[in-house]
Amino acid sequence: MRVIVCENYEEVSKEAAKIVASQLILKPDSVLGLATGSTPVGMYNILAEKNKAGEIDFKDVKSFNLDEYYPMAADHDQSYRYFMNENLFNHINIDIENTHVLNGLAENPEKECDDFEKMIDAAGGIDLQVLGIGQNGHIGFNEPDDFLYANTHLTDLTDNTIQANSRFFDKIEDVPTKALTMGIASILKSKRIIILASGENKRDAVTELIEGEISTKNPATMLKVHKDVIVICDKAAYSK
Ligand code: PGA
Repeated sequence: MRVIVCENYEEVSKEAAKIVASQLILKPDSVLGLATGSTPVGMYNILAEKNKAGEIDFKDVKSFNLDEYYPMAADHDQSYRYFMNENLFNHINIDIENTHVLNGLAENPEKECDDFEKMIDAAGGIDLQVLGIGQNGHIGFNEPDDFLYANTHLTDLTDNTIQANSRFFDKIEDVPTKALTMGIASILKSKRIIILASGENKRDAVTELIEGEISTKNPATMLKVHKDVIVICDKAAYSK
């Protein structure tokens, strides 16, 4: 695992954008795994600028998002589909048909998850997966537990995550308690993974990720078994 420690959030965003941009330059038809949350927003802004400046091209890119609340309508302003359109897809030349976000209203969530896995495989697998990290070490919505799921699945959100995400909703009761998420194996199948973290509230999770043993109590530690993971964090999120 490589660790890049940056001065601040802006630097984290720049470093991450550099890696995504290099990926697209080397392989214009890359398959990207994308994340929501506040952390990747700065990186998405830089990628949109680079696209506008003609430095990178999303014409042949396919994307798969990590997760989506359940139940959640795609056009709801807190859906992850809405987030991705607003923060990235509407600002770059990606074909919206090539962007895949799990359907938060799927009548048969199991089938939705199976189909999603098959679509990733059919696209040739994810070349570069972008991850954030929860304060509790979750990646996607793989929450700390006694066991973790391998494949894309429907899951319950922990109180910690509901609390953390309530900042985006009028009241905490409005936060969905379930989500569809890629599983640990879906994430680990990606050829390269970058995980972004900024701010003191991520310090415990990042310290465990870098120094701790592999544990289902911090799902991000599963990344230790992958051979190409880059942690990009700022000084606030990095303790030592
Ligand atoms: P954040 O979320 O980027 O909004 O901190 C990260 C996560 O929960 O995975």
